[in-house]
Amino acid sequence: MFWKHSNSQDTVEAMALLPIITAPDPRLKKLSKPVEKVDEAIGRLMDDMLETMYAAPGIGLAAPQVGVLKRVIVVDVAGQDSEPQPLMLADPELTWVSDEDAGYEEGCLSLPDHYAEVVRPAAIKVRYLDRQNEVRELAAEGLLATCIQHEIDHLDGILFVDHLSALKRNMILRKLLKAKKAEKGSQKEPAAV
Ligand code: NI
Repeated sequence: MFWKHSNSQDTVEAMALLPIITAPDPRLKKLSKPVEKVDEAIGRLMDDMLETMYAAPGIGLAAPQVGVLKRVIVVDVAGQDSEPQPLMLADPELTWVSDEDAGYEEGCLSLPDHYAEVVRPAAIKVRYLDRQNEVRELAAEGLLATCIQHEIDHLDGILFVDHLSALKRNMILRKLLKAKKAEKGSQKEPAAV
């Protein structure tokens, strides 16, 4: 998902911006595998994903969006004028969802310039491995709950448009395909990734 965010981190180690895959693309429809342990390589992936998300700018990013089929997501729904509140989650699992639903206007870094209201449980609990490989459980509601559910969907090959009617979904995917073709046709400058 995305949202404007000031890029305010002080970079200590060299991190890398990763190219974000946009729909339609078969890699976004694949099932990602559990990591089971957050080792150095997964930790680095988390750091790079967080930097990529802030640079986009976005409020959430899932590993398959950068071509890595592993169950890793990063999220920060703090507003532009607030302190960053980064969350890095490996093998996230919903352990509880509320009966009450909430609708949010969602967007996605893999579906640039398209938004639609998606209805999901309003509150959740999620269990995951953190950056230090500790098991944690987090209760979330509002935008954070929506964002975590949106990112977990990516790990199962589900995009927010898959929650819409086929008519709306196909309209958005057709426009994205058209935009992709137009971009390919005029690739004089390096692609903005
Ligand atoms: Ni997304």
